[in-house]
Amino acid sequence: IEQTLSIIKPDAVERNLDNEIKEIFKNKGFIILKEKKIQIEKSEAEKFYKVHETKPFYNDLCDYLSSGPIVVMVLQKENAILENRKLMGATNPIDAEEGTIRKKYGISIDKNSVHGSDSSENAQIEIDFFFKD
Ligand code: CMP
Repeated sequence: IEQTLSIIKPDAVERNLDNEIKEIFKNKGFIILKEKKIQIEKSEAEKFYKVHETKPFYNDLCDYLSSGPIVVMVLQKENAILENRKLMGATNPIDAEEGTIRKKYGISIDKNSVHGSDSSENAQIEIDFFFKD
């Protein structure tokens, strides 16, 4: 049993898709252990996406994640990290397979509706980032 961090990004929350997306996770057997709807500062987005700091899209990415409310969740399931990545689909919604969240809701590579941890190491780091008390 693994835990992973999921974010419903501003483009999806703005379109009131957060409950619909949460239902998809639940229907696929994920348990939402923790969740909160928040808006973060750009400086926090920069910390969260620090692994991407050398990328050309880093600044826009951090502007975007801090541009409106997001829903952050800890999801639990067997193989949660990989299962969540499969359910999200490819980073660019254009490349995402039928039946994935990004295919269904994603608007662009930036506004791709959801984020999910990409490894168990990052899952722990990302869960602590939002939920460490
Ligand atoms: P996410 O899974 O949240 O991780 C980093 C985000 O950067 C990614 O989703 C995309 O929304 C965004 N992004 C923008 N441009 C690119 C790119 N060229 N390659 C990968 N990710 C990108």
